[in-house]
Amino acid sequence: MYPNPCDKLSMITVKSLTKRYARTTAIDNISFEVQKGQIVGFLGPNGAGKTTTMRVLTCFIPPTAGTATVAGFDVLEHPLEVKKHIGYLPETPPLYPEMDTAHYLTFVGKLKGLSGDDLRRRVDYVCERCAIVDVKNKLLGKLSKGYRQRVGLAQAIIHNPDVLILDEPTAGLDPKQINETRDLIKSLAGDHTIILSTHILPEVEQTCEQVIIINKGKVVATDSVHNLQNRARGGESVLLEVAGRNGTLDSNSVQRKLEQVPGAGRVLMKESGGNRMIFEVESQKDRSIRGDVARAVVEAGWDLNELRPAAVSLEEVFLQLTATEKPTAVEEVLAKGAE
Ligand SMILES: Nc1ncnc2c1ncn2[C@@H]1O[C@H](COP(=O)(O)OP(=O)(O)O)[C@@H](O)[C@H]1O
Ligand SMILES: [Mg+2]
Repeated sequence: MYPNPCDKLSMITVKSLTKRYARTTAIDNISFEVQKGQIVGFLGPNGAGKTTTMRVLTCFIPPTAGTATVAGFDVLEHPLEVKKHIGYLPETPPLYPEMDTAHYLTFVGKLKGLSGDDLRRRVDYVCERCAIVDVKNKLLGKLSKGYRQRVGLAQAIIHNPDVLILDEPTAGLDPKQINETRDLIKSLAGDHTIILSTHILPEVEQTCEQVIIINKGKVVATDSVHNLQNRARGGESVLLEVAGRNGTLDSNSVQRKLEQVPGAGRVLMKESGGNRMIFEVESQKDRSIRGDVARAVVEAGWDLNELRPAAVSLEEVFLQLTATEKPTAVEEVLAKGAE
């Protein structure tokens, strides 16, 4: 008996997956899960192993070790079932330049086992959904990159798969096309579980709920975007605007006062406008300092005009997690010689 995918909360389960090419270990013992209905960002620099992982998940290449299941089906044991449940948009969409959009989608639909009215309805539906109705009769070779990418998405969802795997779906698009593609992907999230890869941070911050950060073939973090930002901070960090009541405010006094707040870490003056100053106070790990910061300011006789959490961009998290000493060109040559 095949497992019933509806019973499973986890739509993608990857356990200790390794893929080695001749000399390269592209992915090295990675594990993660994607829950049903989630939209997950697979984030990592070029060469991290994103495409390799996606090609294993979509049954294009076998893993060297470990297991991967999609909708409950193992990629090695039940590849046909896996493919039925997956829509895949590779880095370069597999479009035939001499075919027009409608014929191409009909062709892909047939490959996915659709026929007759069902197939016609699905072609119409995905054209509406991906906003490509106006290029239905145009040759794929004549489409702009933005349209080509949307046709790529249309072919990925033609058979209404549970899972969508999108490899760098916005790479090479202009800003307007990026926004359109992003909105389209977000709108698909309700009906599908989505995993999309990117090496660009804002992509994840704007599109995804969960993020899996991968670097040099290893998962270095998997969490919600929100939690990752908190983790990067190590604690909370607050911004506050302080004003003096009698027209003068001594920045050194404020600095000292804030440093004395229980749980406070680094204190930085961000702006100084005479009687008003903006400070950032970092907390020590896992300490909440907002209440004590407010009390300290007010008890010192100053006005607290504003107090809010300081935003940490995912950029910082990403850099922290993927920071590695890069070998110099000379070291690389030496290492190659030693092999
Ligand atoms: N077919 C292949 N043969 C040999 N090495 C490969 C092949 N495909 C990818 N690699 C290597 O595996 C590593 C991971 O590549 P890839 O999965 O494409 O990363 P990403 O998609 O994150 O940029 C890289 O070092 C890359 O050079
Ligand atoms: Mg890639």
